[in-house]
Amino acid sequence: MNKITIHGSSSYEVIIQQDILSLAGELLSNKIGGEKALIVTDANVGGLYLNTLADSLREVGYEIVDIVLPAGELSKDVENYIFLLEVLAKSEFSSSDIIIALGGGVIGDLAGFVASTYRRGTQFVQIPTTLLAAVDSSIGGKNAINLPTAKNQVGTIRNPSLVICDPAVMATLSNNSKLDGYAEILKYGILSGNEIINSLRQAIIYNDYSDVISHSIRIKKSIIEMDENDQSFRQYLNLGHLIGHAIEAYSDYHISHGIAVSYGLALETRACAFAGYTSLRTYNAITDLLREFDFDIEEPYRFEDLIPYIMRDKRIRSGVIQILVPIDIGECIMRPLKVIHLSEFIKLAF
Ligand SMILES: NC(=O)c1ccc[n+]([C@@H]2O[C@H](COP(=O)([O-])OP(=O)(O)OC[C@H]3O[C@@H](n4cnc5c(N)ncnc54)[C@H](O)[C@@H]3O)[C@@H](O)[C@H]2O)c1
Repeated sequence: MNKITIHGSSSYEVIIQQDILSLAGELLSNKIGGEKALIVTDANVGGLYLNTLADSLREVGYEIVDIVLPAGELSKDVENYIFLLEVLAKSEFSSSDIIIALGGGVIGDLAGFVASTYRRGTQFVQIPTTLLAAVDSSIGGKNAINLPTAKNQVGTIRNPSLVICDPAVMATLSNNSKLDGYAEILKYGILSGNEIINSLRQAIIYNDYSDVISHSIRIKKSIIEMDENDQSFRQYLNLGHLIGHAIEAYSDYHISHGIAVSYGLALETRACAFAGYTSLRTYNAITDLLREFDFDIEEPYRFEDLIPYIMRDKRIRSGVIQILVPIDIGECIMRPLKVIHLSEFIKLAF
């Protein structure tokens, strides 16, 4: 059993082990307690893994309520947030009972936001079932829902009580969903160096994501432990997300998060190269890497369509945004840019 402890305002374990899903009940009972468990999942994941999880929880005596939402980004909304709060209230959940997110980043972000606000916070367990959720969204405590105008506009930073990751569930992911995970892993590679990129190559060859998941979590851990509240270092994790989030929202979420981030990695680096912040050599190295993993790097939309979404980025603070500049694979810096210059900077990418 591979255990990684994340230290922060509250510390928690991430447990990574093949076929651990059927042992989740025992783990929760030993490590967290409580009497009731709300499992939030989506229709795809529910059909595949809900019974295994629910049986393991019932075996150790938990009273289960399960909610199966439609799959996809549109479920991360205010209506489902209120619906889940009402389910908890009607089922008389207390703050020592558990909310479990069984799914990808959509379910994790939504259920985490519910758990962080119901009765000012209840126990929350992430069971990530996508590669993206395993390597990124299930750790770090960021929870959010979308507003019609932009992504992740309402949320909290509150750590889960436990993360249980079973790499065996990655076997049923679609190719697109795997690409979503690869995009976030390549982002870690651009931030930290080639080692994680080689881990990803090995994972694909041997069809076993255990090591690349652990490796990714260690990289994210090293960043979030320095800046849990996203005031400085943590912003490095937003590499590719300035344009990525805009593409995702403008596409009305038909382009998924990771794929949108892959466009963002290419386009933001191109803007940096044309602004003279980085070299064309670095731009070429990043686009070669993206192509190696089968990403398309040509912009899917026009600058004019994306810019209103970019200008709504929630990281704009006091008229300034931190632009993340890849200097080389494994080396990035942050450069503050006044928002009045943001539009002309982004235009360089198109
Ligand atoms: N909180 C954070 O720190 C953070 C970080 C990165 C991304 N995110 C958020 O994560 C979301 C994207 O997450 P995602 O890429 O996991 O998308 P997702 O949750 O929509 O899952 C993608 C698809 O895969 C299906 N699926 C999930 N697990 C499966 C499995 N094991 N087998 C078969 N199908 C499976 C789902 O039903 C869905 O259709 C976005 O909303 C993004 O904003 C949050």
